[in-house]
Amino acid sequence: MFSRIKNIIMQQCDIKDIKPGLVLRYFLYLCAVILSCHLISIPAHSSEKYSTQQSSTTYQDEYTYANYQDVSIEHAYLDLAVNFEQHIIEGFVDLTLNIHKENTDELILDTRDLTIQSVLINTNNQWVNAKYQLGQTDEILGAKLIVNLTNSFNKQVQKVRVYYQSASHASGLQWLTAEQTASKNQPFMYSQNQPVHARSWIPIQDTPSVRMTYKARIRSNKNVLAVMSANNDPNTPKDGDYSFTMPQAIPAYLIALAVGDLHFQAMSDMTGVYAELPLLDKAANEFNNTQAMIDVTEKLFGGYRWGRYDLLILPPSFPYGGMENPRLSFITPTVIAGDKSLVNLIAHELAHSWSGNLVTNETWRDLWLNEGVTSYIENRIMEEIFGESRALMEQSLSIQHLQHQLTQLPANETILYVDLGGKNPDEAFTSIPYIKGQLFFMYLENAYGRAVFDKFLVQYFNDHAFKSVSSDSFMTYMEANLLNKHPDKVSKKKVVEWIFQQGLPTDTLKPTSNKFRLVDAQSHLLLNAQIKVNQLVTSNWTVHEWLYFINNLPRDLSIDEMITLDEHFDFTNSTNDEISHVWYLLALSNNYRVIMPKLEQYLLHIGRRKLIIPLYKALVKSESGFNFATKVYTQAKPFYHQLARNSVEMVLNEAKLKY
Ligand code: BES
Ligand code: ZN
Repeated sequence: MFSRIKNIIMQQCDIKDIKPGLVLRYFLYLCAVILSCHLISIPAHSSEKYSTQQSSTTYQDEYTYANYQDVSIEHAYLDLAVNFEQHIIEGFVDLTLNIHKENTDELILDTRDLTIQSVLINTNNQWVNAKYQLGQTDEILGAKLIVNLTNSFNKQVQKVRVYYQSASHASGLQWLTAEQTASKNQPFMYSQNQPVHARSWIPIQDTPSVRMTYKARIRSNKNVLAVMSANNDPNTPKDGDYSFTMPQAIPAYLIALAVGDLHFQAMSDMTGVYAELPLLDKAANEFNNTQAMIDVTEKLFGGYRWGRYDLLILPPSFPYGGMENPRLSFITPTVIAGDKSLVNLIAHELAHSWSGNLVTNETWRDLWLNEGVTSYIENRIMEEIFGESRALMEQSLSIQHLQHQLTQLPANETILYVDLGGKNPDEAFTSIPYIKGQLFFMYLENAYGRAVFDKFLVQYFNDHAFKSVSSDSFMTYMEANLLNKHPDKVSKKKVVEWIFQQGLPTDTLKPTSNKFRLVDAQSHLLLNAQIKVNQLVTSNWTVHEWLYFINNLPRDLSIDEMITLDEHFDFTNSTNDEISHVWYLLALSNNYRVIMPKLEQYLLHIGRRKLIIPLYKALVKSESGFNFATKVYTQAKPFYHQLARNSVEMVLNEAKLKY
């Protein structure tokens, strides 16, 4: 032993001979290095290249520390108190284990900024204290919690209990004071776990590759209601003590909790809205097509497997449009436009009940399997409910957006199976997984026809229900169930091009909208001074035509032209948050400063990243815009979600170097 260690040291240190005392010291040092390497795991940057031979390989998710191939969680019981005074969640979680590798002696969990108070292990209903170790913190991954599973019973541990507390700045939670809410009565708290924030309020295997059922007991103040991505009971008394069951197995990113002054309004027997009172009626009216959306999706793609489907309307600081938490999608209020013009968002979040929640991307590299299939289904739902013409307009707007992004993104980020390269996954999502993904499915639909392609999708959902799918296994599945069954329609080479190569294939279908052609024709006349603004025939334009019209106006209009447009159409005062967004972008590039007070209000009241980040980016192009943005941000910051803060600060910090 001694001489072996001595040899290792001599090799490592490149020296000829050493004294025994030094050997002992070096041996201890080596042990420390090995232990700390174990604890401070460095994210494995996946470097594997696509090969058609690799279809059955399971990839390790690069955004988790969990040893889920050895042991995985099959059920979680959360017993938590929501503490509005300190902005923390405290309590314990019981994790029921499923051992895949015999003699697995540790369970590695993901955590971020959690205070771990104690860890117990359970064998045959006996709880005993467990040894555990919290690793060092990585900015993106958080810290691993290693729980020792060996016990004196010499039997397999079945459950692990962790007592813990979240940090007041937990990345997956937003806390709002009563004053920051719509009804001003009660504070509000909600979670946003996707992609890797579950670990900031639950010590868990935070990877889409692991699914678990859960139950929860949530205690909070009286007079606020807690809701979860589980079996919500709208009639439960607001007594501050709530219980939930989620019998379908889901990944940790779909565990969700919100607590606030929430009220419920039914839209149909199985759908309803939770919202603060000032928004409840408006939301229930805006989204009263939800049941019809469920019905058409079931008709097209098979049964809805989750029981109820409710919507939760969040405060406007919610950093996303929507989040597909099962049974209870979380929704931004910025889509309550009064005319159902933005309800494709509901179709989108609902569609995730098939693509994403039922069949889940295996890692965040495979996000296109969640978002691409969902964007495709979303549009099919819109077509069924609102007709082909609207569906085509929505496709067209998406494609324009994608084409713009394709000019901005580095080439290696235009691949569906994208290499995230260890980057913060919060910042890594682009329209590639969404719209390039959607275009891929539209391409397949066109090649095989709807009868065949829809049947394929139904079978895909059935065969993979409650499982995760990787890009490789999807490819293999497609080959067996679509390509080979209907030969000579799409080649495997073409599929590889779509999934694993950059940009858009040259034969991508880019449907055009007749409605938009009519808009183009009028814009053309206007821009060539053949008609005046007041001669534009816009009486039957919908929000989509307005969005298209504004998006395609030149970025160098004169101030007079901007004034005339605004006088006629009052864009600056639009009550549709999407129209305001594109108008403010146009105004900023044309230096039309009339919008500034309205823009300021917009940025102070909306925290949805998709709507505000492009505006901050446009603002910082000039020094005066940068100063304006900095001032507004300082005021808006307490109301923004941490994710929005991060994104805005990235924009401002980069610009700061210029001025
Ligand atoms: N699941 C996403 C939101 C998300 C994606 C959160 C990645 C965290 C990481 C949700 O379904 C979504 O795509 N929302 C879009 C809706 C839109 C495409 C209709 C949004 O928020 O804008
Ligand atoms: Zn989505």
